[in-house]
Amino acid sequence: MLQFKKKLLSGIAPVLLSIALASPVIASDAHHAHKGLNYGSFTKDNVLLTPKGYREWVFVGAPVTPKDMNDGNPAFPEFHNVYIDPTSWDHWKKTGEFRDGTVIVKELVSVGAKESASGNGYFQGEFNGIAATVKDSKRYADRPGNWAYFTFESYEAKQGVIQADDACAACHKANAAQDMVFIQHYPVLRAAKPGKK
Ligand code: HEC
Repeated sequence: MLQFKKKLLSGIAPVLLSIALASPVIASDAHHAHKGLNYGSFTKDNVLLTPKGYREWVFVGAPVTPKDMNDGNPAFPEFHNVYIDPTSWDHWKKTGEFRDGTVIVKELVSVGAKESASGNGYFQGEFNGIAATVKDSKRYADRPGNWAYFTFESYEAKQGVIQADDACAACHKANAAQDMVFIQHYPVLRAAKPGKK
């Protein structure tokens, strides 16, 4: 009998847990798609955990700094596939601004072939790592624009490595078109911005 009860409980617990985890999403979807659903997860010290699932977020652009145009050594080789989390995409479409909680991931991809059936060019090869930035006025109150920048030692790393302002933020602040994000290179963001129709 005791055996049976234990088994029953262990069968029910995951079900209850998954209902508990899913319900905030269901509740918010009913009123307002994605409202309040944040995609970043953090350590106690506000270091971003390695993002997962971002290839299913909204893809905003693919700048490429090929080795053969950068003395063999671009800062971030070579393609940069850039994704924004879905909640912040919704907010961008409504307001044209990056909300608190925005997560932007850039995934590095090598140049593979330089010619294909369509012609000569740069064709994506293999995934090569990620970098990310997060805007959060509470976690990163002291950072320029409240953005924190992260590199990742590998896809398997548990968490990112938070970067000093002069390593990343300074260049973004000086050169990016809006709120430290290089929207000048992301036609998807520009086209979705309110008033740009
Ligand atoms: C010398 C200037 C410069 C520095 C330094 C720099 N970046 Fe960037 N970053 C860019 C440019 C330009 C883009 C957009 C074009 C591209 O990807 O090449 C970009 C894009 C990004 C993006 C995509 C979102 C956005 O803001 O456009 C992320 C994420 C990012 N960088 C992270 C980092 C991290 C992390 C560091 C520090 C390790 C860093 N960057 C350092 C110039 C810089």
